[in-house]
Amino acid sequence: MKEAVANAAVEFLVPQLSENTIIGIGTGSTANLFIAALAKYKNKIAATVASSFVSEEKLKAHQINVIELNETTQVDFYIDGADESNHQLQLIKGGGGALTREKIIASAAKEFLCIADESKLVNQLGAFPLPIEVIPMASNYVSREIIKLGGNPILRKNQKTDNGNVILDINDFVIEDPTSIETALNMISGVVTNGLFSLRPADKLFLGTASGSVSELHTKQ
Ligand code: 5RP
Repeated sequence: MKEAVANAAVEFLVPQLSENTIIGIGTGSTANLFIAALAKYKNKIAATVASSFVSEEKLKAHQINVIELNETTQVDFYIDGADESNHQLQLIKGGGGALTREKIIASAAKEFLCIADESKLVNQLGAFPLPIEVIPMASNYVSREIIKLGGNPILRKNQKTDNGNVILDINDFVIEDPTSIETALNMISGVVTNGLFSLRPADKLFLGTASGSVSELHTKQ
């Protein structure tokens, strides 16, 4: 399923590629399959921007050009997986811990294509524990504030982000209004980024199904 959506995203992109195209690249197993599928077209684009050290290494292993986000004023497309998506294409991301760089590149991109298998589509976000990147010295304070919002934060063991921070995974969180929760979490001092992508949802969701077909959901026409 993941391979089928990765290929579908590449097929969608190919007719739109030019020597100036800059593509933002997500992190995770689905993004890795996208990188492998994109490799064939590496000479048809200007460069990519990676959302993690791991993705940067994978891109370079395929001899795909990688630049820093600060080196460009334009990101034409951002392609990434998700841990959950609702029908409005609001997402939970950060299962792999790369949420901050992912959110920055998604925000900078003109078009955000999410690629996922059908198990990721849900009616309400929150069954997947919501990842929050936190400045290490603030983790206990942030945890107490999250408990006040109704969540149950658990410090992710043995993982530091590419930015040197820690991750809290919020369990048992009822996310009825993703935008209010995303905003409320952003207001807690010490939170770097939360894994809700509702203020900047995906524009298109390519969903792989068990039968091998890929369906497309859109937020704008
Ligand atoms: C990494 C992410 C990933 O997109 C998310 O965890 C999905 O991963 P996968 O494609 O392996 O299912 O947000 O921080």
